[in-house]
Amino acid sequence: MSSTQRIQQPRRYLMCRPEHFAVSSEINPWMNRGRQPDRARALAQWQALHDTYLRLGHEVELIDPVPGLDDMVYTANAGLVIDGIALGARFAVAERRGEEPHFLDWCAAHGFDVVEPVATQEGEGDLMLVGDTILAGHGFRSVRASHDEVARVFGREVVSLRLVNPTYYHLDTALCVLDEETIAYLPAAFDQPSQDELAVRFPDAIRLPTPAPDALVVNATSDGRHVIIPPDTGHFEAELRERGYLPVPVDVSELHLGGGGIKCCTLELRGGRS
Ligand code: ARG
Repeated sequence: MSSTQRIQQPRRYLMCRPEHFAVSSEINPWMNRGRQPDRARALAQWQALHDTYLRLGHEVELIDPVPGLDDMVYTANAGLVIDGIALGARFAVAERRGEEPHFLDWCAAHGFDVVEPVATQEGEGDLMLVGDTILAGHGFRSVRASHDEVARVFGREVVSLRLVNPTYYHLDTALCVLDEETIAYLPAAFDQPSQDELAVRFPDAIRLPTPAPDALVVNATSDGRHVIIPPDTGHFEAELRERGYLPVPVDVSELHLGGGGIKCCTLELRGGRS
């Protein structure tokens, strides 16, 4: 056990109840129409995640689920919100385009400055803020050209990272942000130049072997002290403890049937209140 005392930062999250969650398409390798989720179980697991955030003292906002939008529970993909500016997503997959206006309307109604995107990009699924820098994935969903738009909208450095393994099709399935300067990631999910970039920028990162393909191990959220992770991550949990973080296991395995986990169900709302 490390003697490092990690400091918790208050978070404000946006979540969406999986009331209409279903697997009616196969837009990522995790999805199989022959394996439909048990909706009651999905709702209970989602509720446990929601209640965990509240128990840790975070705020959770809710966006209303819309019938027919199976994947709306994965709010991380809806956009990126920093400094009160909400850049919406432009989904690569037609099945999710219908979510776009709901998120923009919600943000406008809650006092955020809304920016409609031009280039294809799937929000925090592929865009992750670490300190002042935005790590940006491309290769499967978001296009490289969206990274310039993101840099312009937020006036921040954007580091492009290329994903190469279709099982880890969004950046947040391969990398998680632990605090302002630390990440955990699966190096094998990235091409070599991106691996080199991450190694130089994050010498103290937790590097994990590519896990069994049914485990969304690093699809986790952190408040700088508590790290919400799936149960049974073994090595990852041990590494977190060793560095002074407090792992909090929450099981959202029913949501894995759609190809998303803890982080995918969680969009961070930064700024927007004076
Ligand atoms: N079925 C969804 C899709 O393929 C899952 C999204 C998971 N979200 C995430 N942030 N990785 O778009």
